[in-house]
Amino acid sequence: MAAGALEDTMHVNSDVMSKDGDSGGTLAVPRHVGIIMDGNGRWARARGLPRGEGHRRGVQTVREIVQHAGRLGISYLTLFSFSSENWNRPVEEVGELLSLLRFFIRRDLMELHKSGVRVRVIGSRDRLPDDIKRLLEDAEALTAQNPGMTLVVAFNYGSRAELVEAARSLAQDAVDGRIRPEDIDEATFESRLLTRDIPDPDLIIRTSGEQRLSNFLLWQAAYAEFVFVDTLWPDFNAAHFDDALRQFRNRERRFGGLGTGAKR
Ligand code: IPE
Ligand code: IPE
Ligand code: MG
Repeated sequence: MAAGALEDTMHVNSDVMSKDGDSGGTLAVPRHVGIIMDGNGRWARARGLPRGEGHRRGVQTVREIVQHAGRLGISYLTLFSFSSENWNRPVEEVGELLSLLRFFIRRDLMELHKSGVRVRVIGSRDRLPDDIKRLLEDAEALTAQNPGMTLVVAFNYGSRAELVEAARSLAQDAVDGRIRPEDIDEATFESRLLTRDIPDPDLIIRTSGEQRLSNFLLWQAAYAEFVFVDTLWPDFNAAHFDDALRQFRNRERRFGGLGTGAKR
């Protein structure tokens, strides 16, 4: 999505207004929230538990936040669950993370489907075990027509690889005479990304105190607002999420222009 006007990226939701008890006005929620769910390992270490326990507890948080975001009327929620660089972890931990994805899809898919959630998975399927590939395909197919929130699971996702793949496919089209280099613009480029049919994130939250993107949605985050919270992912909850939304509402998004000056 090209950087559009503010109105394009927000929509008003009366549920939010009534829950927040705002003084008369309506509260807008961001259309797309991305979350870098970080800190599971530190959460476990602080309790003398194995890292896998932190990841398991993190799945509980996923459930709570998905439900909450859906209730608030957020249209797209992207969860960074496993990065293409996370293969660098010990093989046991990688195995646990793959098993947890399996477990989550098997256990939660029907519930998500019933609540109208559409599941999308972005990332490379190449290195994933065949049974997981099938589970992901089935989850997407089953929920494709659902009317509710789109839950984008970024699994084995790396933004640089995504960008390289986009460049490669355009180069191939140019070599084959299907496209002229001078016809490549931002929209053409974007149409080759894994997120081609997903609007850019308006808000990106990262837990655990780290303040970096770690190869998450590099292109798409061009005009995202960032909220970094110290809370570790297993401790993150609906109230923390609401607080991030409050911070978001107090930002003035300018998209390179002069803005309204209303918040200055
Ligand atoms: C986030 O928690 C989960 C994944 C990256 C898969 P971490 O496992 O990175 O936890 P910390 O950063 O080591 O605490
Ligand atoms: C980012 O967290 C990836 C996910 C949350 C899935 P990491 O814990 O892998 O990031 P770094 O290594 O601290 O940058
Ligand atoms: Mg981490």
